[in-house]
Amino acid sequence: LMQGALEKLVPLAPDSWIPGGVPDPLIARKHGLIGSPVSRLDGAFKVQGQAPFAAEFRFDRMTYAALAYATVARGRVASIDSAAAEGAPGVVLVMTHRNAPRMNTPAVFGSSPSAVGPSDLPIFQDDRVHWNGQPIACVLAETQEQADHAASLLAFTYDEEPSTTTLEGARAAGTEQGVMMGRPLLNKIGDADAALAAAPHSVDHLYRTPRHNHNAIEPHAATIAWVDDQLHIHDASQMVTQQAQTVAEVFDLKPDQVRLTSPYVGGGFGSKGLWDHQIIGAAAAKLCGRPVRITLSREGVYRVVGGRTLTEQRVAIGAQADGAIDALIHTGMAVMTPHNSMPEPFTLGTQSAYASPNITLQVKMAKMNMLANTFMRAPGEAVGTFALESAIDELAVELGMDPIDLRLRNEPDRDPVSGLPFSSRNIAEAWRRGAEAFGWNERSATPGTRRDGEWQVGMGCATGTYPYYRMPGAEARITLTLQDGAIHAKVEIAAAEMGMGTSTTTAIVAAERLGLPIEQVEVAYGDSAIPGAIMAGGSQQTAAIGGAVIAAHNALVAELLKLAGNDSPLAGLSPDEVGSEGAALCKLDDPGRRESYASILGRAQRDQVSVTQAGSPPLELMHWSMHSHSALFCEVRVNAVTGETRVGRFLGAFDCGRILNPKTARSQFRGGIIMGLGMALMEETQFDERNGRIMNPSLAEYHVPVHLDVPEIDVIWTDIPDPHTPMGAHGIGEIGITGVAAAVANAVYNATGRRVRDLPITLDKLI
Ligand code: MOS
Repeated sequence: LMQGALEKLVPLAPDSWIPGGVPDPLIARKHGLIGSPVSRLDGAFKVQGQAPFAAEFRFDRMTYAALAYATVARGRVASIDSAAAEGAPGVVLVMTHRNAPRMNTPAVFGSSPSAVGPSDLPIFQDDRVHWNGQPIACVLAETQEQADHAASLLAFTYDEEPSTTTLEGARAAGTEQGVMMGRPLLNKIGDADAALAAAPHSVDHLYRTPRHNHNAIEPHAATIAWVDDQLHIHDASQMVTQQAQTVAEVFDLKPDQVRLTSPYVGGGFGSKGLWDHQIIGAAAAKLCGRPVRITLSREGVYRVVGGRTLTEQRVAIGAQADGAIDALIHTGMAVMTPHNSMPEPFTLGTQSAYASPNITLQVKMAKMNMLANTFMRAPGEAVGTFALESAIDELAVELGMDPIDLRLRNEPDRDPVSGLPFSSRNIAEAWRRGAEAFGWNERSATPGTRRDGEWQVGMGCATGTYPYYRMPGAEARITLTLQDGAIHAKVEIAAAEMGMGTSTTTAIVAAERLGLPIEQVEVAYGDSAIPGAIMAGGSQQTAAIGGAVIAAHNALVAELLKLAGNDSPLAGLSPDEVGSEGAALCKLDDPGRRESYASILGRAQRDQVSVTQAGSPPLELMHWSMHSHSALFCEVRVNAVTGETRVGRFLGAFDCGRILNPKTARSQFRGGIIMGLGMALMEETQFDERNGRIMNPSLAEYHVPVHLDVPEIDVIWTDIPDPHTPMGAHGIGEIGITGVAAAVANAVYNATGRRVRDLPITLDKLI
């Protein structure tokens, strides 16, 4: 999506080039709110139970939905026996493809900037089954329990068709070049095969990662009502505007006939988008003429909501004795469905990782009949860094070098694939600070030599990386209101909050720009009625919001100067000489020359001023290679008797530009690292290979880290602003998970001498 949008941009001539839009004075100075820890403004509402989530909204005469899921991987529904369900207590409606209203197929993600459909499949429009777990019937009843019971009474028979439900079967059927948003996932620089063959030292291994399913604490849910010809959806969404537009197209509505709100979301990680359940719920509500609440059970999330696909990756590296890399090969395959738009682009992080004159990167795709893939926190980089950073560790062993020294020896001075200079890359500083804080010098270079009773102790490290993005399309409206002598600011922005602190950080940025206390700034978001479009994806939302707030503030300054007129102490100044401070406009280099907002509005006999402005186009992405980086350190204890791995300590040193809110940033980094620990040690979707059914659709059988699995996690950061982004900040939402699995695997090797290249690192692989 990013790349499609960028292709429409034309780079500026170098002499007119203003990186990242208007350079922001906030980058240069550091005081006030930016960089000071602010608690989440929605935190108190959430812990007091006052924040309404999607499944907590009520409508009069509401009905409750339950879904039935297909039990074959591919074929047709031959018969449906719904008599018992229809006669069950409280049942209002049984909807299947036979009686569902006619609807358009949702436009699949990436097919246009607003399209966020889960796949290119029609929903409840025919008898076809495309995956084991596909919803094939929906029961509405007066209570959730009645709906669940009635759904259990439905009986189906199928005409099964041949399906591919194993990796070997998918491979045998043939692989094809992976394509991400229209671009092949293929990079070739020089001749990596020849350089690998000629290199005096090399490693060449296969790494495997399993399928992962989403487990946000809030299962997916929507409360849906038709009011006349308006469709209201209270949803849990990280792409509010885009979902409303895609749903409008499904039901042949004008965009303003769908109102989708999502003020609070209990975690998304890439999964809180449009799936079958919102479409089914809206269709059922239309058919029965009553509002519908549709809440996926935890099992339902596994059946309906896509996850991260499995990968098989080869990393081969050739190097000189001094560690200089001559050849870097990172290739392999991932699996998609025949109706999907989401490969797992595991080579993206490798593109800018290490200097090498010869590089080959390629992702190939095989096809399986399964639930569609989707984004999961750092799609691509999370699993790609496991393979790459494990291989770097293996090369360090081969060379007898310290793995940090080996990485620093191969720091590129510009992007090896794109050739662009880096906007900001302080990874060496992150390694230096991290190694000191963690005590890396206490590591034994020889594996299997530290022991504490039954426990073998080891240390490992890895680099994490995630690109900087900023999607175009963000707009902000700022309204200043003068009431009883006090100024109140409202910032409206079409952003999504899924619990990571976006609304708080937006308030910080707006308050700092406007020179107002944060208590006087209100942020409205999570509502499709707000103009503009951003989504909480690609770790880019805060940069996009910042760009729009900066642009809107600049427009506000110009508007206020006009209102101030010739009687103001600011008369004669141009907008770019003027900023905000202390609820006033002031001359930037002479802050004593000022007039308060209240005074300007009062003299102009206005009680309100409002501006709407779009952020500058993200041209910075065309001129620099832009990334967040991290240096990760892990200490593990592996039990020599049971093979159990416990993570003892973890430290992440991050280089992500200016950190805007240290409090929420620390949580984001820690949360990402914890998700990475799950990827390293536990998470694995298990398929029944006979029929493609997910066998462990619950938190009892699909393991994620619990509190006792999570050690003390330190996070530190360089806090060096990137001069080419709005506010100097990079994204921080996804980088936390990247590199973590490799840091754990490398520590396990250091502890035991055993190299596990196949996630998760369960105890059976260590005994
Ligand atoms: Mo993310 S996986 O871009 O929510």
